[in-house]
Amino acid sequence: MGRVLNFSAGPACLPESVMKAAAEEMPDYRGLGLSVMEMSHRSKAFNEIIQETEEGLRRLAGIPEEYAVLFLQGGASLQFAMAPMNLARNGKADYLITGVWAQKAHEEAARYLDVHVALTGEREGFTRIPNMTGLSFRADADYVHLCLNNTIFGTRYAVLPATGDIPLVADLSSCILSEPLDVPRFGLIYAGAQKNMGIAGLTVVIIRKDLIREDLPSQVPLMLRYQTHCKAASLYNTPPVYAIYILGKIIQWIEGLGGLGVMAKINLQKATLLYDHLDQSRLFKGIAHRDSRSLMNVAFTTGNAALDTDFVQRAQEAGLIGLKGHRLAGGIRASLYNAMPFEGVKELVDLMSAYEKERAG
Ligand SMILES: Cc1ncc(COP(=O)(O)O)c(C=O)c1O
Repeated sequence: MGRVLNFSAGPACLPESVMKAAAEEMPDYRGLGLSVMEMSHRSKAFNEIIQETEEGLRRLAGIPEEYAVLFLQGGASLQFAMAPMNLARNGKADYLITGVWAQKAHEEAARYLDVHVALTGEREGFTRIPNMTGLSFRADADYVHLCLNNTIFGTRYAVLPATGDIPLVADLSSCILSEPLDVPRFGLIYAGAQKNMGIAGLTVVIIRKDLIREDLPSQVPLMLRYQTHCKAASLYNTPPVYAIYILGKIIQWIEGLGGLGVMAKINLQKATLLYDHLDQSRLFKGIAHRDSRSLMNVAFTTGNAALDTDFVQRAQEAGLIGLKGHRLAGGIRASLYNAMPFEGVKELVDLMSAYEKERAG
């Protein structure tokens, strides 16, 4: 079997050129006679890899000097805990709940802090980002947390809430590097790498340096302190070496395309193709409200669970995999991360058309 078209929400598809380049270098990295996977994280060669990756990310995403870039493990899920443990000075944080991941982040923070839900989209089944007019935050909140792109329900913020001087902490797991990033708008950004930045095992944290506390309570484990990893330049313990190396290759690939502006255009074209198709279809309907549509995760349904399952099955037989909706949302979901080519989305749309015609008789 040849390669499939992988619409999975993550781990997700990788650019073919990245995989080929990695495969070529795998057994013998640049004549050193070993793989990056076998390399000491303290070696000169790996030091170059991690430094180049950080420099590349800073260049690509416009990360200013006042921000630290950390390469961590534990997934975005560990950041649900690390953010409250590290950022709490007054012991208060405000959360915007627009989906399951935001909910999980809130639940985790509630173990440590006095958390306040400033906004929730639960009543509308998380199918839109609620109107933010009149939204306010507690003046003494240590931070405001949101999830910029909601992977499961396929929604995203069209605009960011105004938080004034309160640092904005954001989960960008399913949209990082998909479009230009205004880093100074955030106090802390975190994202797992396995959707838009490569492979599982790596979490990227971008944090304003003045938010990194040295005076944390003694019971906060060293491994869970941003300060530990910042001081050690992400080499406090063994980092996920191969995932960092792949991130470096992804950055080169995006730069080769022309950077995040070009990446955003391509992503918009892909999402527009699918949403336009959904808007004219008599069988398939988009789940998210138009004003909140995600460009990365497109959730849709026929309105009939058995038919949704049948379509997902048919797609799988045609080599289009990972289209089953999340178990909490049901339906169908196509994740169109950076590495999904436009032609892949075209194939999906063609299959949807053929399926619809067949059913109409
Ligand atoms: C927006 C978002 N946040 C957090 C997570 C959890 O990430 P991890 O599995 O890296 O902990 C996911 C996973 O799909 C996600 O989509």
